Amino acid sequence: MRAQQLASGAKGVEDLKLVELPDPQPGPHQVKVRVRATSINYRDQAVAKGRYFGGALKQPQIPLSDGAGEVVAVGEGVTRFKIGDRAAGTFVQLWNDGAPPPFPQPALGAPPTVGTLAEYLVLHEDGFVHIPKSLSFEEAATLPCAGVTAWNALYGERQLKPGDTVLTLGTGGVSLLALQIARAGGARVIVTSSSDEKLERAKTLGAEIAINYASTPEWGQAVLDLTDGRGADFVVELGGTGTLGQSMTAVAQGGTIVLIGVLTGMDNAPSPHALMRKRATLRGLLVGNRGMFEDLNRAIDATGIKPVIDKVFPFEQAADAYRYQASAKLFGKVVITV
Ligand SMILES: NC(=O)c1ccc[n+]([C@@H]2O[C@H](COP(=O)([O-])OP(=O)(O)OC[C@H]3O[C@@H](n4cnc5c(N)ncnc54)[C@H](OP(=O)(O)O)[C@@H]3O)[C@@H](O)[C@H]2O)c1
Repeated sequence: MRAQQLASGAKGVEDLKLVELPDPQPGPHQVKVRVRATSINYRDQAVAKGRYFGGALKQPQIPLSDGAGEVVAVGEGVTRFKIGDRAAGTFVQLWNDGAPPPFPQPALGAPPTVGTLAEYLVLHEDGFVHIPKSLSFEEAATLPCAGVTAWNALYGERQLKPGDTVLTLGTGGVSLLALQIARAGGARVIVTSSSDEKLERAKTLGAEIAINYASTPEWGQAVLDLTDGRGADFVVELGGTGTLGQSMTAVAQGGTIVLIGVLTGMDNAPSPHALMRKRATLRGLLVGNRGMFEDLNRAIDATGIKPVIDKVFPFEQAADAYRYQASAKLFGKVVITV
């Protein structure tokens, strides 16, 4: 099969090369999927630079966690899939439901687990889900990391209620899916961005309040001012320690900040005592389990959510797709067809 592969010791996307590899064959309880589309997450940039958990790659790696395609072969004993089914792999392999397994777990697209940026993907049948009937392969390819993370933030523990206010940071992949899931669940949405033009686009997706975090550095106070002092019931915290202080200002009494992102880094966190005064919760999250992915897919079919795809690149231009994903132009998801 053809695959895009990061070299051992890769320092960046210039070390991503198109290679020919043996076709993987499904063993007992395994499923083989012909991948049709993949998508890139912020995390994949770290894998390519050798800065993901575990550091530099010690052997060649097919990257990317997210992809969707059709089942072309099933191994002995497979019961959950048949040839022709449309499927996507789960980011955390074999975390089907319940509490998370100990960290780190095998996750697609980083050692020790294969990635999706190849013509074929073979995994245990428990590591796949059926994708929504209402989505194309390109749209479904945006879900395994960004979609499940956004769903878990709003439904994984404390459940979103109609009328809640959700604050989500930036206009990248997780943020826009959180916006769409929150709107589908009857919530009011506040979105931040460094770009007024992107904020206008976010409003067309249903964001009610849009705040430019570059021109309004005290955006946490702005959230309070624009909600009659109440704040956000959920903060989808994608910025990391550089934004956490403002998120603690923005969160409502009894609200939840879901700690997801590291866009501004992980060091020098502000004092958490503002949470005490607000009786608020800081909840850590690492993507989610298969049951959450299945719930998300059911909700997508029922509500008509269409993930926002910014740009689609052909397989041969995968490196350009990485560069675009890391650029300031990004709005939503970047997809690579296979
Ligand atoms: N814990 C987990 O399981 C998990 C799962 C998924 C993602 N993540 C993390 O979540 C973050 C977002 O991931 P992603 O894949 O959605 O990223 P992405 O698509 O690359 O999002 C990039 C966007 O983030 C926004 N941004 C950058 N700096 C910001 C800041 N200081 N304040 C607010 N927004 C800022 C920018 O929006 P504007 O251009 O509009 O300013 C940028 O376009 C990353 O740190 C990623 O590692 C964690």
